[in-house]
Amino acid sequence: MSTGKFDNVPDRRHTHSLKWGKYEGRDVLPLWVADMDFKSPREVIDAAVVASEFGNFGYSKCPPPLVDIVIERSQDLYDWEIDPRSIVWLPGMVCALNVCCRALEKECSQVFTQTPIYPPFLTAPGNFDLPSERIPMKLEGNRFTFDFEAIENLATCPGDLFMLCHPHNPVGTAFKKEELIRFSKWIIEKELYLCSDEIHCDLILDSDSRHHPIASISPELSSRCITLMAPSKTFNLPGFGCSFAVISDPKLRCKFKNALQGIVPDPPAMGFLLAEKAYRFGEPWRKELLTYLRKNRDLAFTEISKMPHLHPFNPEATYLLWLDARKLPTANPHQYFEEHGVGLSDGKDFGAPGYLRLNLGCTHKLLSEALLRMNNACKALS
Ligand SMILES: Cc1ncc(COP(=O)(O)O)c(C=O)c1O
Repeated sequence: MSTGKFDNVPDRRHTHSLKWGKYEGRDVLPLWVADMDFKSPREVIDAAVVASEFGNFGYSKCPPPLVDIVIERSQDLYDWEIDPRSIVWLPGMVCALNVCCRALEKECSQVFTQTPIYPPFLTAPGNFDLPSERIPMKLEGNRFTFDFEAIENLATCPGDLFMLCHPHNPVGTAFKKEELIRFSKWIIEKELYLCSDEIHCDLILDSDSRHHPIASISPELSSRCITLMAPSKTFNLPGFGCSFAVISDPKLRCKFKNALQGIVPDPPAMGFLLAEKAYRFGEPWRKELLTYLRKNRDLAFTEISKMPHLHPFNPEATYLLWLDARKLPTANPHQYFEEHGVGLSDGKDFGAPGYLRLNLGCTHKLLSEALLRMNNACKALS
């Protein structure tokens, strides 16, 4: 296995890290919440040092070079042209998911989402008393995707909201262009709004897949769509709170901005600054990261495939690996693995009890140790 910058990680114990603090004082390897153990790109760290030394931490505005790089990058990487007026800055994506529901609560009679799904998709509609309907994803081969039959038979009303996660957390699907085209046609025909959370778009692991922003599929779809993006997963900056929505339709953008009013602040100065540095200088780092994550994914997928009672799904994107532990002869697989020294995310929080999610954003060494522990835990039950 390769060595290098991703093998040398800071010791996050005793740092009030959410991920590592959960198991403070216990010998449990934390492979749960979606942040990575790696250091961010050098240019990002250097910029943070300079900004800290400057010593003034007053309010700030979005730096124009950040807008320039967002536009340039989306054109280069995704062949997607963004009008600078359509960008709305936000301090986080979870709040953005909630703001989408808030913005549309008056005209929306229900919110649709596909399960399993990142938990805030399940809770956001209820925060605004909106009923929600979960559509289980369809397993084709060993890949989860849209269940078009179920989707196309849904009873919808114009103005309802569909919340899509693309690429998908937790199952790791990078939706194909043909799939997005079919789904977009349905959204347009039913006159729905779409919130597309694309926070994992820069983390496509399969070399033959690529990310297609759904708003780039057609102007008709774009006019009904709120796309959410951020540098936070890609460059490991979630603690600095800087994300953005892209909303091309001025009326929809106005509704979204009204829903933010007085409640959601702008990103902090450091968030803006580091987002710009990461997007501008982080491309070589991101490519190395993908190589490292691919190795982790391949290792985890191969090893878990051999473990009794477990069935893994190979993520095409994200640094998250979803696995079916329903055949494990224990009442609570999540707790069982914790007792055997591995802290995973519990599928029940994603609307899928009996499943687990493993975070691959760690060193090969830590992952290998976790896989060994999981294997021993599985064997103890066979
Ligand atoms: C799909 C998805 N959306 C949003 C978030 C959270 O974003 P934020 O930390 O900006 O609220 C995550 C974090 O794991 C995620 O996977």
